[in-house]
Amino acid sequence: MRAAGPSARMALALLLLAGAGVSAAASSSAPPLFNVSLDAAPELRWLPVLQHFDRDFLRASMARIIGDTVPKWVLALIRKAVWELELFLPQPFTDEIRGQCDALNFTLADCILLNLAYESTAFCTSIVAQDSKGNIYHGRNLDYSFGNFLRKLTVDVQFIKNGQVAFTGTTFIGYVGLWTGQSPHKFTVSGDERDKGSWWENMIAALFQRHSPVSWLIRTTLSESENFEAAVYELAKTPLMADVYYIVGGTFPQEGVVITRNRDGPADIWPLDPLNGAWFRVETNYDHWKPVPKRDDRRTPAIKALNATGQANLSLETLFQVLSVFPVYNNYTIYTTVMSAASPDKYMTRIRNPS
Ligand SMILES: *[C@@H]1O[C@H](CO)[C@@H](O)[C@H](O)[C@H]1NC(C)=O
Ligand SMILES: *[C@@H]1O[C@H](CO)[C@@H](O)[C@H](O)[C@H]1NC(C)=O
Ligand SMILES: *[C@@H]1O[C@H](CO)[C@@H](O)[C@H](O)[C@H]1NC(C)=O
Ligand SMILES: *[C@@H]1O[C@H](CO)[C@@H](O)[C@H](O)[C@H]1NC(C)=O
Ligand SMILES: *[C@@H]1O[C@H](CO)[C@@H](O)[C@H](O)[C@H]1NC(C)=O
Repeated sequence: MRAAGPSARMALALLLLAGAGVSAAASSSAPPLFNVSLDAAPELRWLPVLQHFDRDFLRASMARIIGDTVPKWVLALIRKAVWELELFLPQPFTDEIRGQCDALNFTLADCILLNLAYESTAFCTSIVAQDSKGNIYHGRNLDYSFGNFLRKLTVDVQFIKNGQVAFTGTTFIGYVGLWTGQSPHKFTVSGDERDKGSWWENMIAALFQRHSPVSWLIRTTLSESENFEAAVYELAKTPLMADVYYIVGGTFPQEGVVITRNRDGPADIWPLDPLNGAWFRVETNYDHWKPVPKRDDRRTPAIKALNATGQANLSLETLFQVLSVFPVYNNYTIYTTVMSAASPDKYMTRIRNPS
């Protein structure tokens, strides 16, 4: 992703040759869509989803991701402390993890660690933008290693309460948090990693201080917050296990913001300012007020593509095209989601780089 090799240049050349008219959807596929009922007991509610996947494949993928991302000392520590963690980790997450874990014959400690492992190394691009008519659009690329597994584990989930879709999200099987989601007619949220280094040490310390994993807070906010403003407040102030960028879109003009989070609270709030020409905000994995490192500049190409699109031509389709421009879109891109809380039925995820 960082070093543009010959074939990356070729991909760019092909992209330029093909022109803006080509549908990037040609090289992508829709993930499966599942309903998960919040009216069912947390231990049971994911089991109908698991049945659609090969158990050995799930076990092998999870073992590999845990083995490759979690340091041995953390594994040992959590295996010892799991009984204590179980007492204070928030519900329904712990029971949901336990239910899936039992079905897959994994230990609870390993499944909790799998759920924390993704907090670490995701590279992403999120964009929130407003068109000339005041409609708000939100899009994101999720970039991660382990693509061979994760593309096959990516699902769109509708969380059902009282027979209605309470909120929608995109996640990986076995992972109960959300990095991407929508509360219909209210707001949309995505999270991008903010890397501060030596994060396992910090994360474990914060976990024992009862701070929330960043993706669990997205899900809780989607489940509970009444509107854009309430969501921004929750996402800005709730203590977290790790630093992160939260990108939030609403349903009314000017409802779009990038929240730069420290573990204890907000470092910066960066709203849309369409009256002064700032009709979009692009967040990758670097503080917006600092220059991006040259070795990983996905910000400038995204801004160029948005400038070229123009505010009047903004739509979910053109936003998807922007998220398909190299290197915003790259070999590590697992999925792209575009969404607009005012038109919840248009929520769309595509798996990228499918093999
Ligand atoms: C992207 O993937 C292709 C095909 O697997 C590979 O040949 C190429 O080297 C990769 N490019 C980068 C920049 O990693
Ligand atoms: C579950 O795992 C344990 C220990 O790894 C093993 O002994 C047992 O046979 C497994 N059970 C099933 C149903 O796979
Ligand atoms: C999910 O639940 C909604 C609301 O009850 C229903 O309309 C829809 O058909 C269900 N979809 C699937 C894939 O089961
Ligand atoms: C995008 O457009 C704005 C406003 O015209 C301009 O200030 C900025 O330099 C442009 N950025 C890029 C990367 O093209
Ligand atoms: C934007 O839309 C207008 C009117 O629909 C069209 O004339 C123009 O070519 C479009 N611009 C781009 C960059 O696609």
